[in-house]
Amino acid sequence: MPTLSEPTLLRSQNLIDGQWRDAGLGARFPVTDPANAEAFANVADSDAGDARLAVDAAAAAFPAWSRRPARERAQLLKRWHALILDHQEDLARIISTEQGKPLKEARGEVQYGASYVEWFAEEATRICGDIVAEAVPGRKLLVLKEPVGVVAAITPWNFPLAMIARKIAPALAAGCTVVAKPAEDTPLTALALAWLAQQAGMPAGVVNIVTASRERTPGVVDAWLADSRVRKVTFTGSTPVGKHLARESAATLKKLSLELGGNAPFIVFDDADLDAAVDGLMASKFRNGGQTCVCPNRVYVHDAVHDAFVERLAQRVGALHVGPATEDAAQIGPMINARAVDKIARHVEDAVARGARVVTGGKRVRSADGPHYYAPTVLVDATPAMELSCEETFGPVAPIFRFRDEAEVIRDANDTPFGLAAYFYSNDIRRIWRVAQALETGMVGINEGAIAAEAAPFGGVKESGYGREGSRHGLDDYMHTKYLCQGQLG
Ligand code: SIN
Repeated sequence: MPTLSEPTLLRSQNLIDGQWRDAGLGARFPVTDPANAEAFANVADSDAGDARLAVDAAAAAFPAWSRRPARERAQLLKRWHALILDHQEDLARIISTEQGKPLKEARGEVQYGASYVEWFAEEATRICGDIVAEAVPGRKLLVLKEPVGVVAAITPWNFPLAMIARKIAPALAAGCTVVAKPAEDTPLTALALAWLAQQAGMPAGVVNIVTASRERTPGVVDAWLADSRVRKVTFTGSTPVGKHLARESAATLKKLSLELGGNAPFIVFDDADLDAAVDGLMASKFRNGGQTCVCPNRVYVHDAVHDAFVERLAQRVGALHVGPATEDAAQIGPMINARAVDKIARHVEDAVARGARVVTGGKRVRSADGPHYYAPTVLVDATPAMELSCEETFGPVAPIFRFRDEAEVIRDANDTPFGLAAYFYSNDIRRIWRVAQALETGMVGINEGAIAAEAAPFGGVKESGYGREGSRHGLDDYMHTKYLCQGQLG
C-alpha cells in the first residue's frame, strides 16, 4: 500500500452520481502490486446493474452540463488540473504501486496527463462553428458544434492516469458527461483522479467511475454498448477488443474513438546520427519497460551502420537498472502481470529458436523480488518469420533487423495490419520527406523518439484504429455538427 500525504485519495468504491458506492452485489476484487504479485487493496467489482446506474447519472447530468457556458466548464477543468499537480507525488506513488512504473516516470505521467486537462480546459473556450456564405438570397446557413452526449471511456493499465485524463478532459470540455471503466489491473489511479475532480467542484453525475474485475468487465462494457443513451465509446487497448466494441456498438451507431495495438518500426538509415538514434530508441523503446502502444517493436538498422549501432545500444541497454518501481534507482520496473512476462519470454524463445542472437538480456531476472521482471534485451538477426515481428511484445525487448535499401525497409515496415507510430533517423532532407509520406502510420517520429504531446493528434490508421486524442482535433471526436438553415430573411 503506498504511503500518501493525502490518504483519502485511495478510494475503493465506484463514483456514481457524486456518491461513493459499493458495487450492487457487494463484491470486490483485489488490486495487485506487480513488484511482488501481492494484493494490497480491494475495489468494487461491478456488474451491468452498476453500469446502468452510472449511465442514469450521466444522462441526468448531461442537459445542465452541456448548457453551462464553456468558460465555466473550462474553469472547473483548470481547478481539476491544479489539484492533479498539487497531488503529483501521491498520484505517482499510486501509479508506481499498481502499475509497476518507475517512480520518476510515474511523476512524468502525472504531468503528461495533467497537460491534457489544461489543454482541453483552454480548448473548451474555443469551440466554434461556421456561418456559411448563403447560396440563395434571404437564407442564413449556420454550423454548430454540439456535444454528442454520454461518453463511455474504457482505459488501459499502461498509463493509468494519462489515458483516462485525455479521454475525460475533452469530453467534459465539449459538454459531454462520462461513464468510465479503468483497467482491472490499475483502478486506483482512476478513482483518485475522480476524487480530485469531485474536490474541484465537478457536479454530481458529470464524471462516473465503475471498476470491475477481468471476469465482470464484459458485463459492464456490454451494458454500455447496448445502451442507446451512450452516444460515444472511447477506448485504448487491444485491436481484438476494439473490433468487438465496434461490432457491438453498431446496433446503436455510437461514435467511436479507438486507439488500438501497434507494431511500430524504428528505422536507422546509413546517414543517421547514430548517437541521436540510440538516444531516441532508448526513450521510445524502454519507456514504461516497453509497455506502450507506440514503442518500437521492430528496429531496422542499415547494414553499413548495423554493428556500430548495436554496440552502442547494447551498452546502454545493459546498464539499465531493473528493480521495484517505487525504488528511486529503478529504470525498468516489473511487467504488469504474469501473462505479460510469459509473452515476452515466449517471443524471445521463439526468436532464438528461429536464429536470433541475444546480445544482452534475454532472460527473467530478480525472481527473489517477484515473478514479473524481465531483463532489458537486445536481439540481432531478427526476421519477419519471428512472432515478435508480427505481434506487439509489450516489453523491454529490441529486436534488430538488418536492411540494405530504402524501398526494402519501407516495404517491410508497412508489412503489418497495424499503423499507429513509426520512427526513423536520417539526415537527408529528400529522404525524410519521402519516407515520412511512405510510412503507413498515424504518427511519425523523424529524428525523434518521444512524440506524444497534448498539442499533437495522437492516433493510428489501419487496424490501429481511428479518432485522435490531444490537439484541436481531439475535441471533434466528442462533438457532432449541426446545420441550421434559416429562411425568409430577404
Ligand atoms: C499508449 O501506449 O497507448 C499511449 C502512449 C502515449 O501516450 O505516449
